[in-house]
Amino acid sequence: MRRGGSGLRGRSGAGVPPRWRKDLERVLISEKQIARRIRAMSRDIQRDFAGHEMVVVSLLNGTVLFLADLIRQLSLPLRLDFIGVSSYGAATHAGKPVFTKELRLSVRGRDVLLVDDILDTGKTLARVLAKLRALEPRRIRTCVLLNKTARRLEKVQADYVGFEIPDLFVVGYGLDFAERYRNLPFVGVLRSRVYDLAGRDSVARPVTIRFYSFFKDLSGCAETRETVPEGSTLGELLEALAARFPKLGGMEKSTLTAVGLDYQDRSYVLQEGDEVSLFPPVQGG
Ligand code: PRP
Repeated sequence: MRRGGSGLRGRSGAGVPPRWRKDLERVLISEKQIARRIRAMSRDIQRDFAGHEMVVVSLLNGTVLFLADLIRQLSLPLRLDFIGVSSYGAATHAGKPVFTKELRLSVRGRDVLLVDDILDTGKTLARVLAKLRALEPRRIRTCVLLNKTARRLEKVQADYVGFEIPDLFVVGYGLDFAERYRNLPFVGVLRSRVYDLAGRDSVARPVTIRFYSFFKDLSGCAETRETVPEGSTLGELLEALAARFPKLGGMEKSTLTAVGLDYQDRSYVLQEGDEVSLFPPVQGG
């Protein structure tokens, strides 16, 4: 059984909020469109599952927002469990799905609704379905918010589909790129510049780091902000600082620590928002 998903009609969503314009090309599916579609999907699900207690199995992490909105619309007795599965890492191309959390509830003889945010190559769903079928549920129905058929590699389809989407890199409403953007309340199209940059080393995407200094005489270094190319390591930052602030030269690793990190881990790749502290050299260190 396959429920036809809505195609995307009309204009390509509302405008991107100013905060996200740098990263997003446009809104593909607005908050309102999502809410309306979820109401319709949940009516279908409710009708099909009536009379049976269902187990909703949701795939982590991308389903968080979709799942929360979907199950609130279901007036059915249900139990909820999660499977952790991940395939992207920080890339836009999927690798082999890896399980990061196993199911805890028994699904034997049960009606299962498997929920995912996006069906893309189909590798994830194919793997999860094989795993679930081996547990002998009474039946399994699959429900995805987004269906992107353009890159399908596995023969798998969903029973309930929110939206058919073209081959675009979408983020928001649970979907991420390098773990970012999941909190957007809409589905947006990521600017290719963002993932092109992330794929390269030491590109100019700035990472801003805040400094605290315990040196009284380190002019310009107390409570300042520094911008480094994306992909820069703690070690590279130390070298750059030593060149800029000669007093730091020779102090080496004992003088620099990223908050919460082992200061000797010079290979640590600095992240936006990291806080770095500069400490006086350790005596004899
Ligand atoms: C994404 C998404 C789906 C899967 C779809 O998960 O949430 O589960 O990829 O892709 P596929 O059809 O090509 O297998 P991801 O591995 O990025 O993990 P996430 O849910 O934590 O974002």
